[in-house]
Amino acid sequence: MISINSEEQVFHLQTLNSSYILKVSDAGHLLNLYYGPRLEHRETLSHLNHTARVKLGSTTAYSSADERYCLETQKLEVGTTGKGDYREPSLHITYCDDGSSTSDFIFDRFELSGDRPDLPGLPHSHSPSEDDLSLTIVLREKLKPVELHLHYTCFVHTDTICRSMTIINRGSEPVVLNKACSASVDLPEAGFEAMHLSGKWIAEGQQQRHSLNKGVFSIGSSRGVSSSSHNPFMALVSPDCTEDYGCCYGFALVYSGNYKITTEVSSYDQTRIMLGVSDLDFAWPLSGGMQFNCPEVLMTFSHGGLNLMSQHFHAHIRQHIIDREWQDKPRPVQANNWEATYFNFDESKLMSLARKAQSLGVELFVLDDGWFANRNDETSGLGNYNEDRKKLPRGLAGISRKIRQLGLQFGLWVEPEMVSVNSDLYEKHPDWAVTSPGREASPGRHQLVLDMSNPSVVDYLYEQLFDTFRRAQVSYVKWDHNRNLSDVYSNHLTAEKQAGFYHRYVLGLYDLLFRLKEAFPGILFENCSSGGNRFDLGMTFFMPQTWISDNTDAHERTKIQQGFSLLYPPCCMSAHVSGHPSHQVLRHTPIESRFNVSCFGLLGYQLDLTTLTTYEEKVIRQQVGFYKKHRALLQQGVFYRLLLPASNQRAWIIMRKDKSEAIVGFFQGLQVSNPTLKTIRLPMLKPDVIYSINSREQYQNIRQYGHLVNKELPVSIKDRGILHGIIANHYLLPVNAESYTMHGDQLQHMGIPIKSQFTGTEITEYVSHFGDFGSRLYHIRCLDC
Ligand code: DGJ
Repeated sequence: MISINSEEQVFHLQTLNSSYILKVSDAGHLLNLYYGPRLEHRETLSHLNHTARVKLGSTTAYSSADERYCLETQKLEVGTTGKGDYREPSLHITYCDDGSSTSDFIFDRFELSGDRPDLPGLPHSHSPSEDDLSLTIVLREKLKPVELHLHYTCFVHTDTICRSMTIINRGSEPVVLNKACSASVDLPEAGFEAMHLSGKWIAEGQQQRHSLNKGVFSIGSSRGVSSSSHNPFMALVSPDCTEDYGCCYGFALVYSGNYKITTEVSSYDQTRIMLGVSDLDFAWPLSGGMQFNCPEVLMTFSHGGLNLMSQHFHAHIRQHIIDREWQDKPRPVQANNWEATYFNFDESKLMSLARKAQSLGVELFVLDDGWFANRNDETSGLGNYNEDRKKLPRGLAGISRKIRQLGLQFGLWVEPEMVSVNSDLYEKHPDWAVTSPGREASPGRHQLVLDMSNPSVVDYLYEQLFDTFRRAQVSYVKWDHNRNLSDVYSNHLTAEKQAGFYHRYVLGLYDLLFRLKEAFPGILFENCSSGGNRFDLGMTFFMPQTWISDNTDAHERTKIQQGFSLLYPPCCMSAHVSGHPSHQVLRHTPIESRFNVSCFGLLGYQLDLTTLTTYEEKVIRQQVGFYKKHRALLQQGVFYRLLLPASNQRAWIIMRKDKSEAIVGFFQGLQVSNPTLKTIRLPMLKPDVIYSINSREQYQNIRQYGHLVNKELPVSIKDRGILHGIIANHYLLPVNAESYTMHGDQLQHMGIPIKSQFTGTEITEYVSHFGDFGSRLYHIRCLDC
């Protein structure tokens, strides 16, 4: 809903639970009057313009007409330089006719529409529903012929607002954009804490939370990809905000390249947050008649803590970012050969893996890296699209056919944006690799990056991929990107355009993806960049799921998935059960925990299925069955992070919107000695109905009991003896089942009364042995809904 009072020049954007109010000041600047809990729309809202109306010492008045009006204390929708706003600007332009860089944008006109504004070449939220409206406010520079089109789309039901900005040069003289943020929001107070996700390879999505003090704080990427160093997301939260209580504002950028999110707490205790393409190594010449589109920003306000903020984002991503084709379509359970074989495979090994996968209930078999010529390790082959005929004598077409004959879908890994020096492509087109003239290129995983700013490269890749996907009859593609950019320079671009390389790279990539998506609407794309090095909403627009981390260790994954859940719903995150010990941290975790964590994402298996013990095989078959049975709930439900008192434990719930069914996951880190009794409170359930709670049928490996196993079994067996091994490999020892019937209010306030944990004294039906990295799933169903 957008209400406009034209006389007062006030614009009121309302979602179900939030209001965003703008006003044009007497001097013509666009001000933010309010962002927070929804306010009733009233005829007049101008009085919400609460700014200092007193002469402030040592400030610069905007004009001599009013000494009390200084831009430094105004809550501006666009911050520029030169007229007395000394905070970080969101827009910085150099006018080439005279070299000046003072900008003063004032209101010109507005347009209201039911359609989302066009952002050609950029991913963006899909068209809103009929209740949603878009507003474009046009500001014009007071002196120079430049216009800003500020776009706002109000998504009422998801409680989100999308913003972006288009800069149009209406004159004939060029201008240079030195900085062009998509959105800037000035909030009237200080004292926020910033929450964001930082990380590195195999440790992505780590939650950070800290106070914002006076001055500037920023996160971003200079790696060419949005990167795992900092996800393009930030929340500003009140210090008392918890998962379920308190206020927070969430912001995310729909972009996959270098970006920057900056906050500034001003001398006057206002907080500014700006998001956009990074201004580092960025200068964009805009000649007469041209326009520049800034990527979209998604923002939301929550008065119900972090969970509610995440749920707004999750709903928006599911309904408006993810490809419509995949919004509700069940995602297949996959088996991927990477951790099973790495580069060392041939057709017969792949077929054995696929056959076993099929017998376990898997639906999609994915052939990862190493299928093309000269690719036996990381050092060569990228750029080749012809199959390695030693490994695949019948080519991609042959293996794909055989796999499909098993009743499985076939999926393929590609890394199109890269080239190995040792490849035919590099030999033919060395100028297509990103290298800086006269310098030795710095390697990353022994490979170079292709110049995606060059349309010939994009065209070439389109042809190669089109042919490959056709030939292999793929249902799924894993799109990898395994190095950050360096030595940035394009042989294709003129000198004045080099400083826009990073953004042009991203536009080239998006162009390729738009074309491929159009040609292959049915292919399920999975985004990957050494795991989550390019996990962002830009890629999510093209690829509904992401391989969020190469770390498949169940314990590490709870941190990574929990972190990313601040912004992304479970249906965006692929999560695989891998072998043991973990290939990343050498940790042993129970196979049931590996599954329990994975099923809060998109389930897959990435281990040598041909060497499973009978125990593992039985357990996996059951896991896949459970996942498929509850797939709609696990992939489409409403997700919450649950509050637990102990720091070595985490719990999540995913619930049907109508609260009639849910699955709770409870994950433990290291076992503590003599642990206290625990309950898991579920405040989100309906209070006045009855629920049944049943633990998932889970099994444990008797090996973990060593010789204590003799306490349980009627016969005596030797610890680590042959018999012990045989029994462990074949016998499924069930964990003590838990089953309760409770009223919703009891679950809300007391919680699931989970069994006592093993304390070194006895193993009875009342004792549950979680052990290190143990976990449980509980299925909850309303009995009278
Ligand atoms: C990095 C990815 O994250 C892995 O899953 C795997 O696909 C390798 N690349 C292959 O090179």
